[in-house]
Amino acid sequence: MPTTVFNYKDGKLTTNDIQLEELVKQYSTPLYVYNNDHIIDNYNQFMKAFDNKCTVHYAMKANSNQAILKSLAVVGCGMDIVSGGELNRALSAGVDAKKIIFSGVAKTDDELSDALNVGILQINIESEAEIYQLNNVAKKLGKVAPVALRINPNVDAGTHDKISTGKKTDKFGIDIDLAISLYDKMITMKNIDPQGISIHIGSQLMSAEPFVASYKKVAELAEKLIKNNINLKRLDLGGGLGICYKTSDSAPDVNEYAKMVFDTVGHLNLDLHFEPGRWLVGNAGALIGKVENIKSNDLKTFILCDVGMNDLVRPTLYNSYHHILPLNEINEYINADLVGPVCESGDYLCKNRKIAKMSKGDYFAVLSAGAYGMTMANNYNSRVNPAEVLVVGNKSYLIRKRQNIDEIISRDIIPPVI
Ligand code: LLP
Repeated sequence: MPTTVFNYKDGKLTTNDIQLEELVKQYSTPLYVYNNDHIIDNYNQFMKAFDNKCTVHYAMKANSNQAILKSLAVVGCGMDIVSGGELNRALSAGVDAKKIIFSGVAKTDDELSDALNVGILQINIESEAEIYQLNNVAKKLGKVAPVALRINPNVDAGTHDKISTGKKTDKFGIDIDLAISLYDKMITMKNIDPQGISIHIGSQLMSAEPFVASYKKVAELAEKLIKNNINLKRLDLGGGLGICYKTSDSAPDVNEYAKMVFDTVGHLNLDLHFEPGRWLVGNAGALIGKVENIKSNDLKTFILCDVGMNDLVRPTLYNSYHHILPLNEINEYINADLVGPVCESGDYLCKNRKIAKMSKGDYFAVLSAGAYGMTMANNYNSRVNPAEVLVVGNKSYLIRKRQNIDEIISRDIIPPVI
């Protein structure tokens, strides 16, 4: 199993000894369930690996429920945001603006000005044009913007193409070869203060090599900038640490990752900042669904369930594997596709998988759904977003109500001429 947070006790799938079936009785399905203790343990483990000598800015795009943001903020975690919406969400959850870093590839003037007005820690610049844009916005506000250039090191992260961000052919960051001249330019600008270098080469990295290759490039650049009298304070080394979705996966160990970071950039004595998303929350979450019907033909068995690609898009978007377990343990298996109700052939949770032989009415958990699950959910087929529950110790709390169909359809406006 990819995680030990959801496990069987007396044949019932539980988390912190709470039976998931009990949560289903209370809140119905589809239902996201997160284990808060695991999220906080992960945060503490990350900090411990760095001997507390770093700041974590949780990439809240992974899971932005305010209960989770607050829970992380309370233990000292900052946030990595990518939009004005995420800025509002983080502030509303009580996150300290001074611990917020703004990544984001096409920021608007309004977003930049809101970020400057609340005084966030750093804005990561994604293009030369954004330097001038931000300088203008900051000038109008009479402020000096603390910035880092997000460097594109042209390193292949070896991950799925759709979540690779560090190659020249990816839209992210600024060519590393242009960096020195841009930092030289920035120090001449009154409303820009270059304080850091930022990098993020992709998500779900399963080996250390791409990190090593890109952090070495960051170190070389930092040395040159320091020689050029750029007053660097910090390195923002991004997120990307992969997690195990399958038993056979082997993800980089966080302690080895920390050692590699110290080995490659430690000598610079700059503050270290990180933006992990998936690593903190991915394996802390499960999506619970219900088997509605089963049908077979001579080639296939389809288990038809109430979880759609609109609730969890990862299997079809990235061909990603999520382990699936029935809430009541079953020791008989069949080969089947577990598919949802959405009118697309891409609407599946797994295909051609040896899976527990479930029957109509059985409930199941899709594991490792804590990251990029609910945040990527949508209303396709006029389906409402699932509810979310947070387990804290031996108690469970509803942290997001199931969406109501009126919330969706009431936004349409039928012109009076029709
Ligand atoms: N920092 C930046 C600038 C990012 O763009 C991301 C993720 C992160 C940090 C966090 O990366 P993580 O630690 O979670 O790997 N929806 C995809 C993943 C998209 C990642 C986008 N950027 C998925 O479901 O796999």
